[in-house]
Amino acid sequence: MDKLDREIALCNLDDLEEQQAIELSIDERRLFAIRQDNQLHAYWNICPHLGIPLNWAPDRFLDLDKTLIQCSSHGALFYIDSGECIAGPCAGQSLQPVTLRCTDKNYFVTADQPLPAAPLNLREQALADLEDS
Ligand code: FES
Repeated sequence: MDKLDREIALCNLDDLEEQQAIELSIDERRLFAIRQDNQLHAYWNICPHLGIPLNWAPDRFLDLDKTLIQCSSHGALFYIDSGECIAGPCAGQSLQPVTLRCTDKNYFVTADQPLPAAPLNLREQALADLEDS
């Protein structure tokens, strides 16, 4: 499994409102962080159901009430603070957390943490399947 070889600045806590999200790409992997109760919770942007990104629009990860993370594909719902899926096709599974370090409200993605597998590119896969058929 690949590991992150460097620490990367994410944002300052004050850059985000409560329940606001921010996205970041690292080595072709995408992660997001959401501010809740004056802290950030970060996960790799991979739905446990199909292994594809959760969101359909930039920085949009929450349900209408802005209390849960919601996958845009099939509606799975996840707690913001734990990443646990509580409803939908992957109920009982969890988002993969991203380890952050915080100094004076500045958040960093820490080095030496495992990187998830590179995401599926369904468009490229579909085009390759068409060429093979
Ligand atoms: S891909 Fe997320 S619920 Fe199906």
